[in-house]
Amino acid sequence: MPELTRRSLLASLGISAVGAALGVPLLAGARGSSSTGALLRSQLRLPDPFQRALPRPPELDPVRSDGATDYFEITQKESVAELLPGVRTAIWGYNGIFPGPTLVSRRGRRAVVNHRNTLPVPVVVHLHGGRTPPEHDGYPTDLLLPVGGAATNGHHVGSHNVTVGERDYHYPMEQRAATLWYHDHRMDFTAPAVWRGLAGFHLIRDDEEDRLPLPRGDREIPLLIADRSFAADGSLRYPSIDSSLTGAPGVNDPYRGGVLGDVMLVNGVAWPRAEVDGARYRLRLLNGCNARRLRLKLDPAPKDGSGLTQIGSDLGLLERPIRHEAIELASAERYDVIVDFGQYDPGTDVTLVNDFGAGRTVDVMRFRVGGSARDDSRVPDTLSQVPILQRADATVTRDLVFRSEEIEGMTGWTINGEPFSPDHIHARPRLGQTERWRLASDFHHPIHVHLAPFQVLSRGTGGPSAWDHGWKDTVDIRPFEHVEILIRFEGYAGKYVFHCHNLEHEDMMMMGNFETLA
Ligand code: C2O
Ligand code: CU
Ligand code: CU
Repeated sequence: MPELTRRSLLASLGISAVGAALGVPLLAGARGSSSTGALLRSQLRLPDPFQRALPRPPELDPVRSDGATDYFEITQKESVAELLPGVRTAIWGYNGIFPGPTLVSRRGRRAVVNHRNTLPVPVVVHLHGGRTPPEHDGYPTDLLLPVGGAATNGHHVGSHNVTVGERDYHYPMEQRAATLWYHDHRMDFTAPAVWRGLAGFHLIRDDEEDRLPLPRGDREIPLLIADRSFAADGSLRYPSIDSSLTGAPGVNDPYRGGVLGDVMLVNGVAWPRAEVDGARYRLRLLNGCNARRLRLKLDPAPKDGSGLTQIGSDLGLLERPIRHEAIELASAERYDVIVDFGQYDPGTDVTLVNDFGAGRTVDVMRFRVGGSARDDSRVPDTLSQVPILQRADATVTRDLVFRSEEIEGMTGWTINGEPFSPDHIHARPRLGQTERWRLASDFHHPIHVHLAPFQVLSRGTGGPSAWDHGWKDTVDIRPFEHVEILIRFEGYAGKYVFHCHNLEHEDMMMMGNFETLA
């Protein structure tokens, strides 16, 4: 009997029982262990790649600024976008666009963002990577109800702060320059809301970074990479149990392990192309997929070999640049990289490819290299100072196991056997202290911790991987892997979440709370 349960559980995850019996789950993607999830096929003919120009999400001007604060306004609304050439797709967008507008803040200048919700469902806004007071962090039950105040749809609202129509989110921005992003975070329904378009960049700049001779202006491009699938009528396809996103949470079998799309969007356009000068560019890569892991590289590689020079991680500059031939990034991870297109002959087509893809998900986008151009940028050997946390700095060690489990007869995802509950607190760290968290997993789980930045101490039996350096807020854990992280709790006292950033896992309970104590 236990055997049978395990099998049906795995079947419902879209994972073959044969692989499971060997202890090696057969994961989607032809090249082995790439992502946990099942491919959701589009029902219309997919376009040829590299037809449309790469858009740059527009920067949002503050509606006003004073000595210490920039004030922004965003309306969340339904609209129509051209994600596939010539196809009209209904989306949910911040100001009606996907990605949402890019917000830019200076370190130490407060950003106050007024969000107005004209969508048919409640929303929650989270600034991912932000060191934000708890009441502004987008706790999953701190709902912003639609204008006009629809019902809370059975959400547990209890003592949480629920607002109707619009509210301000306050971000102190007392943190270093980094590529942050904002996205929906409503309990049980984050995955479909982000799938429909509720995600955008929020960049923080500071003097330290400005002093570096890095590429800037047109040569600094944020790239939100996201896979999606489309129905025959051009709408976004998603296997919600309840497509109104107000009733039962989660997705149908076999997608409970994660939803993998078959179209690669970059900044909201399928397989775009960009004309670039023969010069250095700074690309801020964000994996905005719900569940898909990416392994990105340039094809062909530049003459001098490694094509991607990493200068930053999730939470800002590395101490020194790291040259990579390829970069693996899980959902929500950011890699700030420099690419020198001056290494290519003019006229070369350079494709950004995803080695973990299969078929149409191998290609991501294409760069067409123009003539050589004036380029005063450089990548200095020293970028910043990053204090390296030591094992001995940790005053507390915690074990957290991320795994699949039957919950009320359905596959769900748990942390230490507990499905998410706003009332269960896994950890009560003191502000100013460092903790060591030992994370273990069954499948691929990209684990994200709100508020508190961390460093990867070990992975498996070795040290951090080539992609684990710098300050992180999300760490990619592979099947049956153990990862140790050192987390620095600083900032604000209160209740925050940590969770798997495979958004289907998050919606299906793989989230926990910690409460920082002053
Ligand atoms: Cu990017 Cu808790 O989320
Ligand atoms: Cu976050
Ligand atoms: Cu997960």
